Amino acid sequence: METRVVSVISGKGGVGKTTTVANLGAALTAMGVETLIIDGNIDTPNLALHFGITEIHWSFQDVLNGRVDAARATLVHSKSGVRILPSSLKYQPADMKNLRGALDQLTGYEIIIIDSPPGVIGHVEDIIEASDEVIVISTPDIPGVVNAAKAVKLSRDIGKTNILLVLNKVLEKKFELKKKEVEFISDCEIVCAIPEDEAVPLSLGDKIPVVLNNPTSPAAQKFKELAGIISRKGFAFVPAPRRGFFSRIIGFFKRLFGR
Ligand SMILES: Nc1ncnc2c1ncn2[C@@H]1O[C@H](COP(=O)(O)OP(=O)(O)OP(=O)(O)O)[C@@H](O)[C@H]1O
Ligand SMILES: [Mg+2]
Repeated sequence: METRVVSVISGKGGVGKTTTVANLGAALTAMGVETLIIDGNIDTPNLALHFGITEIHWSFQDVLNGRVDAARATLVHSKSGVRILPSSLKYQPADMKNLRGALDQLTGYEIIIIDSPPGVIGHVEDIIEASDEVIVISTPDIPGVVNAAKAVKLSRDIGKTNILLVLNKVLEKKFELKKKEVEFISDCEIVCAIPEDEAVPLSLGDKIPVVLNNPTSPAAQKFKELAGIISRKGFAFVPAPRRGFFSRIIGFFKRLFGR
């Protein structure tokens, strides 16, 4: 079986990467797609906490450090059937340069999704490099999108062409950037816009992803829609439209990015 490796990255912290990875893992597993989620945020991990998993015998850091095989460190969340390779909650440095080797130890998965630390520094480059497809998460505000643009550019510079932008915590308020503005600034197409929804932090408290905890909530419906998009074999990168008058701020961003 050919495995597709999908990384979830962002320019800015706290935009919803881990929430997205947890929900994609739960939704794809429920759809019958052989899926593994990996906590690649090895310095400040929390993917396992979204499933209430706190006891981690072998960690992803152990895998990266060659202390254990990746398959042996993989856990199955009993309530959801989600397979997860968690990082140790204790500080445990590891070499992300060994990611490809770790991925090679994993067979039988259709999709492996990797959560990442925020930003475009450190381990994120290694994670992007090991990926076939990249999902960039952003909130619809200027700091989020300007930094998301960097994440898109870094992915492209590394040679990735399958890059998708997902907007999260969308309030549909006037002060938010419009979709066309976000696509112009980031130079990437938005495939899914997930609403800000109280059901998400509630699910974190219940230690079960919102797609399972409250499947009809607005956020859950969108996470399921995203899972449907990701499940299709390879997603094509479509450059964002460059023409047209989008907003008052376009000139500013043109100057910022020199295009
Ligand atoms: N659609 C949403 N609606 C409401 N709250 C959300 C939504 N998505 C995420 N959150 C909340 O935002 C917070 C940050 O989410 P999350 O941890 O997934 O972000 P992150 O990008 O992984 O952060 P970090 O960069 O620190 O790893 C969490 O408290 C989460 O419950
Ligand atoms: Mg996170």
